[in-house]
Amino acid sequence: MLVVFLGPPGAGKGTQAARIAAKYGVPQVSTGDMLREAVTSDDGLGSKMKAIMDTGGLVDDDTMRDVVQERLKKPDTAGGAILDGFPRTVVQAAALDELLDRTPHEAVDVVLYLDVPEDVLVERLSQRRACPVCGANYHMTFNPPAQGSLCDRCDAELIQRDDDREEVVRDRLAVYREKTRPLVDRYEAQRQLIRIDGDAGIVEVFERSDKALAEWVNA
Ligand code: AP5
Repeated sequence: MLVVFLGPPGAGKGTQAARIAAKYGVPQVSTGDMLREAVTSDDGLGSKMKAIMDTGGLVDDDTMRDVVQERLKKPDTAGGAILDGFPRTVVQAAALDELLDRTPHEAVDVVLYLDVPEDVLVERLSQRRACPVCGANYHMTFNPPAQGSLCDRCDAELIQRDDDREEVVRDRLAVYREKTRPLVDRYEAQRQLIRIDGDAGIVEVFERSDKALAEWVNA
């Protein structure tokens, strides 16, 4: 199964992709996580990418295609993957079609689009804290860590992502509307898209996503 989670920043793609990946026993492929890991290396490319991410822009399409292509060559994706954060432009969607065409997956099976109003997105991102060690995400009200501001998994002090500052969030939303939102129409026209109302609690949105996926699997 090759599933794409699509939606604006803060829609819950990472949160739900992790849960669906665990349920179906396939890896979550998060381009945001992969890029954040890459920027910790202090070569020139890492700092160039960090500058783009910190200001809410998008890393170029060729780099992103190469990153995903390499990831999908790894044996753990043989049974499928849950893509989170890719594709994000029309060019990336075309590149994904092309690269899947050369793999046993052949094509994207289904796109789960998390639909969430903008005021909710801004609130979620302002309350998000991330673990700098393992990448786990928390929401200080809806999904708080068990102990103060420490990661449940590795005890590290949680941080706010640089791109979760309110002014950067506004820019990310503008980039989303211009570059990524057109993918909703593209996948809808290709009858690959399932729209999920993502404006509910984490467990409820998981149940909606899981039900939609199960219906698609059994169709
Ligand atoms: P990336 O990390 O992918 O950022 P994003 O798409 O902006 O998505 P987010 O991680 O902000 O949100 P999410 O939808 O995953 O929500 P989450 O589950 O965390 O990318 C970062 C940057 O990398 C990009 O800006 C770009 O520069 C670059 N990049 C990445 N991919 C790229 C690509 N393909 N091309 C070019 N550049 C690329 O949830 C958010 C918060 O809300 C959390 O606190 C969570 O706990 C909480 N929450 C989640 N669901 C709920 C709920 N139902 N109710 C209440 N709280 C909830």
